[in-house]
Amino acid sequence: MRTLGQAEGATFIAAEATPGEFDLSLDGATLTITPRQSRPFRRTLRPVAHFEVDTPQGPYPELNLTMGRIVFEGGQTDSRSYRPFSRDPVRSLRALYLGPELPTEDDPAYFNAVCADHAARLPHEDHAWVRVLPSTSEGTSSRAKRLEYLHYHAHGWFHLVEMDLLDAMTRASVLPGKHVIEIGSYQGRSTAVIAAALGDLDAESLVIAVDPNELSEQQADVTAANVASVGQRKRLVQIQRRAGAIASLLADEVAHLTFVDGSHLYEHVLADFQLCDRLLAPGGIMVFHDVYAPAHLGYEPPRSGPARVVNEVVLPTGRYKPLAGAHLALALRKLD
Ligand SMILES: C[S@@+](CC[C@H](N)C(=O)[O-])C[C@H]1O[C@@H](n2cnc3c(N)ncnc32)[C@H](O)[C@@H]1O
Repeated sequence: MRTLGQAEGATFIAAEATPGEFDLSLDGATLTITPRQSRPFRRTLRPVAHFEVDTPQGPYPELNLTMGRIVFEGGQTDSRSYRPFSRDPVRSLRALYLGPELPTEDDPAYFNAVCADHAARLPHEDHAWVRVLPSTSEGTSSRAKRLEYLHYHAHGWFHLVEMDLLDAMTRASVLPGKHVIEIGSYQGRSTAVIAAALGDLDAESLVIAVDPNELSEQQADVTAANVASVGQRKRLVQIQRRAGAIASLLADEVAHLTFVDGSHLYEHVLADFQLCDRLLAPGGIMVFHDVYAPAHLGYEPPRSGPARVVNEVVLPTGRYKPLAGAHLALALRKLD
């Protein structure tokens, strides 16, 4: 990664993949990008923002991938300008990373650096979880290689940086005698991330994966195969039911991590939160997926249930502190 400069309190960084093909310059907070030569095919660059998000419970770092795209059509050699911004006043830009179109292992490395920067500037016991992240100098550690393997081999709706966040939150939440509850496993992409992180720690936790697999029963077999591919089949407990069915099965405060990624309808996410709130031990971590930020996007996203539940129900309880966000995944610590 190459630092291009600083502007308006933010650092501008380019991925290694870009400098060979483009000349990049910074004027204030506006990037100018010029292709070095004409190419016959379309090229797309992907701006990724590091925002600091202000909340009544304190600021948290977010890696935001909804920053648009910079597209060069085939044959285009004239420059394009790009100025990052957010419509949301609670989001302050700390850094902008200009990456290649498809995610690479640079994405988790950048996310880890973002979290380390956040913790270094705001020393507080709430940021102790950052210590579970590998230092960027570790390069392609076995953890990074495994996340990349799952990214390419386990189908699912879970971005590489979201896998990185879920891995970190699994490690940071482990409590003796407690387990993990996942609502919405689909084909086990996220399930395998959680199970592998627990395996690294040799933790005693089981992963209780809940999904009715209504579209195809085979999804449950694929989930098991993906968890087996990281050597952790023995941890997996699959419940092929809707989330409500586990309410009478599990004791209060049985979990150190709950991951909510089932139905995205408001009423369903609300019920999933209420269930997970009861099942999560104090000090444990709850991760939600598909938490869009309407105020940042400037429109109401189609799957708005998770964001509404987080903003209208979870945060106003004052019992959950946001720790970090990666793309559409948001992790919160249960305070009591
Ligand atoms: C977006 S997918 C989950 C993606 C998965 N976490 C991954 O890593 O790819 C949502 C899943 O939630 C499941 N689902 C829908 N309603 C549910 C409910 N009430 N309880 C549990 N799972 C549910 C669906 O069957 C679907 O497989």
